[in-house]
Amino acid sequence: MKSDSPKTFHVKSFGCQMNVYDGERMAEMLGAEGYVAAADGADADLVVLNTCHIREKAAEKVYSDIGRLKRADGSRPTIAVAGCVAQAEGAEIARRAPSVDVVVGPQAYHRLPDLIARAARGEKAVDLDMPLESKFGALPKRAGGQRPTAFLTVQEGCDKFCTYCVVPYTRGAEISRPFADLIAEARALVAGGVREITLLGQNVNAWDGEDDKGRAIGLDGLIRELAREDGLERIRYTTSHPNDMTDGLIAAHGEIDKLMPFLHLPVQAGSDRILAAMNRSHSVESYLKIIERVRAVRPDIAISGDFIVGFPGETDADFEATLDIVRATNYAMAYSFKYSRRPGTPAATMDDQIDEAVLNERLQRLQALLNEQQQAFNEATVGRTTRLLLERKGKLDGQLIGKSPWLQSVHVIAPGLKIGDMVDVRIVSAGANSVGAELLMEAVA
Ligand code: SAH
Ligand code: SF4
Ligand code: F3S
Repeated sequence: MKSDSPKTFHVKSFGCQMNVYDGERMAEMLGAEGYVAAADGADADLVVLNTCHIREKAAEKVYSDIGRLKRADGSRPTIAVAGCVAQAEGAEIARRAPSVDVVVGPQAYHRLPDLIARAARGEKAVDLDMPLESKFGALPKRAGGQRPTAFLTVQEGCDKFCTYCVVPYTRGAEISRPFADLIAEARALVAGGVREITLLGQNVNAWDGEDDKGRAIGLDGLIRELAREDGLERIRYTTSHPNDMTDGLIAAHGEIDKLMPFLHLPVQAGSDRILAAMNRSHSVESYLKIIERVRAVRPDIAISGDFIVGFPGETDADFEATLDIVRATNYAMAYSFKYSRRPGTPAATMDDQIDEAVLNERLQRLQALLNEQQQAFNEATVGRTTRLLLERKGKLDGQLIGKSPWLQSVHVIAPGLKIGDMVDVRIVSAGANSVGAELLMEAVA
């Protein structure tokens, strides 16, 4: 770093929503330290790459991104690599990319200002600690957003150790943030204009804690408490693991109006043999049972999921079983990935790794089916009247884009309304990735 005038920064986050949340907290912290946000990395004095290690492509991207930060005149910003690649590859990053000044893991980023100062003094600045004291206590209080929606990380880490997955290694063990801290953070967000909060965790439904009366509660208890907050209109949560779908959480979907009718519940594969090899510790039958029970209490709930095709040893019959569970569940939307071999995970050394051509073919077939289901879900909502939270401007004059309760992007011409408003609409048309709606007349008044 060259001068001591206010410095500009840019944080670029990749990967999951938890990384987006961490990126926002880093930006707030840098702001509190006197840094000023720059629109992009091109001319910022400090660039933080908040990275994702989940699949090989995501992890390799960081190196091309670092290369691109070099400017025409040969100069470069101070570069910090944060997030899951930082945790997984550590000091190796600085060896492979000598222009990296700081490497900081996902549980240590509250120390970023100190690490930047150390790097400026020419010291090695690598911090991959998973300290006992939580980063959350050390971060500046949240001010609430410029946006009507916000993420709130309530749970971190993973103890599940699915055999393909790096998350238990990059994020560490499961921890739940204390109830009081979460209520305080939610209140700050609502005071800043937030109307919808999405509770986050790698296994968000593993959250547990004690409420203000000292009673042991799970995620459903936390949601119940948050639902009492005036001004907070909508609550969502993601990502859930089937094994932590408690009776209470399922029941909450039928009881709490502010809890949106959407459940992201990854199953990954549809063959019990593959699920066992993945160490998923749930079966096809137990998964479908959960879906049935959630639908019994909330018939309109939109179900979403994650899938991996081509896990080592996956046969044609195993893959057909994945298509079967997709047909049985009927998803409103889903994410699907080719299996990616991750160093250090048990699956990486399993026999029968699947050819790329087979991976491609299976992914295409799965995605064709999932796309069909998504289109059908959107079409089935045509004619419904519902409420939208308007989140951003659309391309057309007077057009705004909001989210339906089922997390669809909804386009509506709504002159005079603004981002953050809630409005009653009728869904009138459906596309693959969004739906169109008209304002209900009474809503205009
Ligand atoms: N904790 C969540 C999500 C973790 S990562 C869960 O258990 O569902 C998000 C998704 O990435 C996973 O659900 C999985 O579908 C996918 N994924 C994880 N590791 C992968 C790998 N090695 N190759 C391909 N996809 C992977
Ligand atoms: Fe990864 Fe499995 Fe943990 Fe999800 S539950 S983060 S897929 S190890
Ligand atoms: Fe990626 Fe880490 Fe999230 S590996 S998916 S950024 S937990």
